[in-house]
Amino acid sequence: MNKFLILSIFIFLLQNCQSPAPLPSPSPPKTIPQPVETSTVEGHFEITKKTTIKVENEEQRRIAKLFFNHFIQVAGWAPKISNSENADINFITKKELVDEAYELSVKKKKINIYAKDGAGFFYALQTIRQLLPIEFSSDETQEHIRWTLPAVNIDDHPRFSWRGFMLDVSRHFYEKKYIYEILDQMALLKLNTFHWHLTDDQGWRVEIKKYPKLTETGAWRVDYNDHDWEHNRWWGRPTQQPGDEATYGGFYTQEEIKEIIDYAAERFITIIPEIDMPGHSQAAIAAYPEIACDPGPYYVATGGVFKDNTLCPGKEITFEFVENVLNEIMDLFPAKYIHIGGDECNKEAWKKNIDCQNRIKKEGLKNEEELQSYFIKRVEKIINARERNLIGWDEILEGGLAPNATVMSWRGEEGGIAAASEGHQVIMTPNKYCYLDLKQGHTDHEPNLGYSQCLLSTCYNYDPVPEILKDKAKYILGMQGNLWSESLPDWDKTTYMAYPRLFAISENAWSPQSTENWDDFIERLYPQLKRLEQQNILYAKSAFNVWISHRGDGENLLIDLHTEANGLTIKYSLDGSDPHENSELFTEPFLLNKNALIKAAAFKDGKMVGKVTEKEFFVHKAKNAKVIYHTPYKNKNRINAEKYLTDLNYGSNWSVDSLWQEFNSPEVELEIIMENATAINQVRMNFLQMAISGIYMPEHIEISGSVDGSNYTVLVEQSLLENAKVQGRYIQRTILDFPKTMVKQLKINMKTVDPIYMGHHQQGEPSRLFLDEIIVL
Ligand code: ACM
Repeated sequence: MNKFLILSIFIFLLQNCQSPAPLPSPSPPKTIPQPVETSTVEGHFEITKKTTIKVENEEQRRIAKLFFNHFIQVAGWAPKISNSENADINFITKKELVDEAYELSVKKKKINIYAKDGAGFFYALQTIRQLLPIEFSSDETQEHIRWTLPAVNIDDHPRFSWRGFMLDVSRHFYEKKYIYEILDQMALLKLNTFHWHLTDDQGWRVEIKKYPKLTETGAWRVDYNDHDWEHNRWWGRPTQQPGDEATYGGFYTQEEIKEIIDYAAERFITIIPEIDMPGHSQAAIAAYPEIACDPGPYYVATGGVFKDNTLCPGKEITFEFVENVLNEIMDLFPAKYIHIGGDECNKEAWKKNIDCQNRIKKEGLKNEEELQSYFIKRVEKIINARERNLIGWDEILEGGLAPNATVMSWRGEEGGIAAASEGHQVIMTPNKYCYLDLKQGHTDHEPNLGYSQCLLSTCYNYDPVPEILKDKAKYILGMQGNLWSESLPDWDKTTYMAYPRLFAISENAWSPQSTENWDDFIERLYPQLKRLEQQNILYAKSAFNVWISHRGDGENLLIDLHTEANGLTIKYSLDGSDPHENSELFTEPFLLNKNALIKAAAFKDGKMVGKVTEKEFFVHKAKNAKVIYHTPYKNKNRINAEKYLTDLNYGSNWSVDSLWQEFNSPEVELEIIMENATAINQVRMNFLQMAISGIYMPEHIEISGSVDGSNYTVLVEQSLLENAKVQGRYIQRTILDFPKTMVKQLKINMKTVDPIYMGHHQQGEPSRLFLDEIIVL
């Protein structure tokens, strides 16, 4: 062989080695929702610009195009779709399959997709999307990616026909592009029902031609939005006053609604509109006060919980309004179901209103509950007349269920159980498991966007068919996740709350209970989260964040660290530095006998997976000191309750946390007796502030010290009035400094908030004071 030939071969080999990127080794499929049956085989299929696709009809062509055209964006080319035989990817109708089911056979040289209907083909492609490299989720051209998917056989069908997600666009308004984004994510997760909560006290969001003021007036409110992640004053905003400008809001025109319905339909998603009535109607009565019991004026609510917000079922004009609105809604939305709310209806105005009382008499009703039932039954007739079905929240059971109604069980499972027992259809969405507006991690480590708690694992481990309904399971149409938007003025906050819990909802709604496995779900979740990152969609890492828990015994703290996801390595520091791979490894609970700012994070394969969480602990000078209560505390039954304020136990941002000690008096006086006289210069006290529950920090504190127990001098006195007036849900950390002084005893006098300030949720009532520890430094 001459030198030239050897050189040519070398160059040829070099060029060929350099050209395409190496093939990734095929990994086992990690899809959500988990398919019913999956078996992997050796090898992989690669989609290239030469790949051909055969479809049988126009619907399949549309479905194929919607999916494969995305290659133009990420690869610069798209595989060719045709009707010719011998294609690489084949769509094949298989009549024996059930609705929405599909079978997928991926071999080295061929992909066959079998389904009975368009939805089945569509869902097969959503599975293929998850088998492809995560870069396919990007909107940008990807260099050096080979579009391979592992060889696999999948047989799959849904557990439930109703796989839903509810978004509240009343409390905060989200533009059309965000609705498209959420519909895309729903499609990927094989969710098929978008429940659109379009009206409520804080905004009417759908154009109704016959009642233009619903959107001219009802879609706008005075703007008190908080945009940071730590303040959530929704529950304590001033109401609109005459002359205030209503600048926050928006609505969807009927044209936009049609576009959104079409966009959803292309993705096999049905949109169920909700027009909430007869309660939650303040935006409607602000626009048309004549349909309320009292003449008004009413304003669109700026936030919070509103009581005077109900339609008047005593007047015929109200039913005329409801009929006209629902007819326009039914003209717009082709869905079989129309949601009319029916929840949390405040009936105070009905009790005083002459028309309502006349209606009760005339119709032979017993009370206001039956008046609500009368209202819902009349609304059902309007809906049934158009051959649609009414859905309502579980309150529609009260006073008697309308004959054909479907119940959405939200306060628990009881409403669903009662309705199914009467032979009504049910959608399960109990708040404890399905409310995505609840906090999804440790309350102290989460942003201040939610209340209560619904962890990813709580959501994941939910079975929508309760044991008691096993023989009535056919009445359970399915389940859904609900995202109320009170605390979510910005879209990134909304997606933070939706993900990753929507993945858990999807798996519960689609996959059989037998495939449920928390650890496996988490393994399959990692690539999904990377997909969200590819799309710049913010999500919560709460399941991977370290919970810093403690127990004090008056001498030391026992610190425990854990994550909700298993199998992670936890590293921590005590000096306030951010933990890294070489920080202290957490192996078991440890004793802490000094003040420390603990920071912790979880790692997987050497990479941090959550965020750094932190908590400051004090092992202070008055630890274990005797407390004399000149003002009694509530709940004397607790063990060691008299030591609560010096036992080194610190409360969390949650009123049900038993580490808080509660006082219910206008003045609170406490005395601390330490073992020895000690030099001190600071007292810290943390108070829970939760205006919606009437829990407030004190307005004023005075601390005096004494070495002999009889002569006291004032060490510090401070007004906290400005802070006490701040509504929301958080821990008010109060630091009181004074010159270094020797003391053995401390006297603490606090003036509590009494009465609660006007305009606050519990105005005029005495407040409750929650204190966990008196930290003496
Ligand atoms: C609801 O959460 N009020 C249905």
